Amino acid sequence: SGTVYSGDGTWFNLGLGSCGQDNNDSEFVAAMNAPQMENGANPNSNPMCGKDILITNPANNKTVTVKIVDTCPPCTSGSVDLSPAAFSNISDLDVGRIKIDW
Ligand SMILES: *[C@@H]1O[C@H](CO)[C@@H](O)[C@H](O)[C@H]1NC(C)=O
Ligand SMILES: *[C@@H]1O[C@H](CO)[C@@H](O)[C@H](O)[C@H]1NC(C)=O
Ligand SMILES: *[C@@H]1O[C@H](CO)[C@@H](O)[C@H](O)[C@H]1NC(C)=O
Repeated sequence: SGTVYSGDGTWFNLGLGSCGQDNNDSEFVAAMNAPQMENGANPNSNPMCGKDILITNPANNKTVTVKIVDTCPPCTSGSVDLSPAAFSNISDLDVGRIKIDW
């Protein structure tokens, strides 16, 4: 805590995530970028799985709390891939990619 991370916020359609759970687009969940997810031999037992993070869109100061359920392999450090429900809470899905702080 205390550290603020910044990167890109995007959205994707949910399914079976790297944490081993099935999730859907209506849930407030997200996939953490691979560098910060730091998956070990068994991604299901990653301590990041199930953590809640508070994401802010600095362009409008809207916020959303999401639970980490998956890994985003192409996402760079600081970036988070959100469920459609979560992304919709801080921007419009049509925008597709925004700057985020968390
Ligand atoms: C999505 O998952 C949540 C939590 O398991 C569940 O309550 C909800 O009914 C599901 N929604 C759909 C559309 O499947
Ligand atoms: C967001 O909040 C910060 C901190 O309170 C403030 O400096 C900034 O002007 C706000 N931005 C918008 C778009 O409201
Ligand atoms: C959605 O956004 C509103 C307004 O910023 C916020 O109060 C609410 O907590 C957000 N929902 C979630 C699940 O974080």
